[in-house]
Amino acid sequence: MTRRHKYTTEYNARIVLRDVTEGDLPTFFEHQLDPDANYMAAFTSKDPQDRDAFFAHWAKILADDTVTTKTILYDGQVAGSILSHGWFGELEVSYWIGKEFWGRGIASGALTKFLDQNTTRPLYARAAKDNTASIRVLEKCGFTVAGEDEGFSNTRGEQVEEYILKLGGNE
Ligand SMILES: CC(C)(COP(=O)(O)OP(=O)(O)OC[C@H]1O[C@@H](n2cnc3c(N)ncnc32)[C@H](O)[C@@H]1OP(=O)(O)O)[C@@H](O)C(=O)NCCC(=O)NCCS
Repeated sequence: MTRRHKYTTEYNARIVLRDVTEGDLPTFFEHQLDPDANYMAAFTSKDPQDRDAFFAHWAKILADDTVTTKTILYDGQVAGSILSHGWFGELEVSYWIGKEFWGRGIASGALTKFLDQNTTRPLYARAAKDNTASIRVLEKCGFTVAGEDEGFSNTRGEQVEEYILKLGGNE
């Protein structure tokens, strides 16, 4: 893949956001099992292997009208998910792409589309300071670093520093 075609209209047409269906959940479950992805995301569930906890968490998400959640399709395949929630006060966006789909501009394309469809600002996001790929995705979409925090990472078993990034809300 050449980097250049990532942002063409044709390429972006390959990335589609649609409502999440229950049939997508087994694929999301597989995606979140990956150890490298867990390390990057840092702030994940205590036990990614716990299928019941995973499905209970998603049942809560899908029943919550204040959460906006979409499945990310790439050429019709379920490549990941993106959602915004206000569980901790501020509206926050997060996303997860299956490892087999990394490095194709899918997170960047999906976040761009999500931001076009969901225009409430300010919108926040959090990323471990060493999650360079996620920080890059956010900065390409206009987010800027607005603060720092730290918390215990279940995956890493230690305190991890993170950036808080923000889009809009300064006007
Ligand atoms: C982070 C994540 C969403 C990125 O998804 P992706 O579809 O591969 O991202 P994209 O291809 O759209 O873009 C990644 C950007 O980061 C860059 N990048 C990727 N890995 C990098 C690294 N290790 N260092 C620096 N830049 C990196 C890419 O080059 C690209 O930038 P570019 O367009 O300027 O070349 C994906 O790896 C993931 O889901 N990880 C696990 C869960 C997670 O971390 N979620 C986010 C929680 S904050």
